[in-house]
Amino acid sequence: MSQDDFSHDAGRGWAGLTDRLVRLARPNGTEPGFVNPPVSRGSTVLYESMDAMRARSGRRYDHELIYGAMGGPTQALLEEAIAAIEGGRHTQVVSSGLAACTTPLLAFLGAGGHCLMPDSVYGPTRRFCDSMLRRLGVETTYYDPMIDEAGLHALMRPTTQVVFAESPGSHSFEVQDVAMLGRVAHEHGAKLMLDNTWGIHIFQPFEHGVDVSIQALTKYPSGHADAVLGAITVVDQADWVVLRDSVVQLGQYAGPDECWLTLRGLRTMGVRLERQSRSAMAVALWLQDRPEVARVLHPALPGSPGHEFWKRDFSGASSLFGVVFQREFTAAAVEDMVAALGVFGLGASWGGYESLALPTTGIVSRTAVVSPHPEPAGPALRLHVGLESPEELIADLAGGLEVLRAASI
Ligand SMILES: Cc1ncc(COP(=O)(O)O)c(C=O)c1O
Repeated sequence: MSQDDFSHDAGRGWAGLTDRLVRLARPNGTEPGFVNPPVSRGSTVLYESMDAMRARSGRRYDHELIYGAMGGPTQALLEEAIAAIEGGRHTQVVSSGLAACTTPLLAFLGAGGHCLMPDSVYGPTRRFCDSMLRRLGVETTYYDPMIDEAGLHALMRPTTQVVFAESPGSHSFEVQDVAMLGRVAHEHGAKLMLDNTWGIHIFQPFEHGVDVSIQALTKYPSGHADAVLGAITVVDQADWVVLRDSVVQLGQYAGPDECWLTLRGLRTMGVRLERQSRSAMAVALWLQDRPEVARVLHPALPGSPGHEFWKRDFSGASSLFGVVFQREFTAAAVEDMVAALGVFGLGASWGGYESLALPTTGIVSRTAVVSPHPEPAGPALRLHVGLESPEELIADLAGGLEVLRAASI
């Protein structure tokens, strides 16, 4: 199979994952033989003596059960699973995907520090930089996600503590040269953090120089649109101590019920994504040939921004991508189109079993790059492809495009 055939078989990279997901992070034998762990809920942990309490308290970096807010056995199993999927050593689960972005930023940045953020970053992460971090005396510079090595060197300052990446951007889908970002960040003594929610397993962050990998577990890992959760993973022990210290100080916590749901969702993530990713590619290829469409922003399609890095670094694709319509269509007409869809729901999240459509014109802020898309740039739509059949999804979109055309006359 050639590389370009592989581009059209984006489901391939998920195939090997299922075997691992079935086996990893099973209960450790203390239970009566059930396949799955119980949900361990708790706050207070009782100790036999003060000596025992003191001995445990010194071990808060070791996932020891010390007090409920520091995490218990259900959290620990999910953390073990995520660390294995991403090739990391330590994972910390937190209350949401957004908390998984903000917590390491707080851990590794300090007053007078400087942070480099891709212009394509998830909106709430941008807002955190522009309000909370600014208030705490941290300056953020937004960079073009397709920046080259010389350009990035030029933006680094002696105070730069963090280079952040989100690859691909979850609205504009630029795949970044993560290895280059890591090289430059490390040369200047900074950490590289990556929001790896799209690439969950098909991009192995620590093989490309990432120091801190972030997952919104709300998306594909939980996979059923019924839990909100995040994970932060590191390989380096010193990074783990800094991260874990901040987590404990901030009182960051993930509830056992959400962790259990996510652990259950994870078992089927490989098969879900194998199907969803193939269906997404079928839908993307169909859209690409439609006269109403100017560009399909799907990392596995030649011509999508950073496609060469996707080909070099990823072993497959997720099922979230973007569509840019021709300039003759208005953003209001795209909203009419979405309202007419019967299979795709209108919703902001992604990664569940259900397909979603979200008009994205006007919700993407850009300060470093005026437009992420070369001309002609019309209104944009983000699609998340779920478990429905591609035939049903394409028929739904065909009806939607009729409404788009009618609304634009
Ligand atoms: C790329 C990315 N990172 C982080 C998040 C935040 O995840 P959560 O909704 O769990 O806070 C999202 C949510 O949409 C996202 O798309």
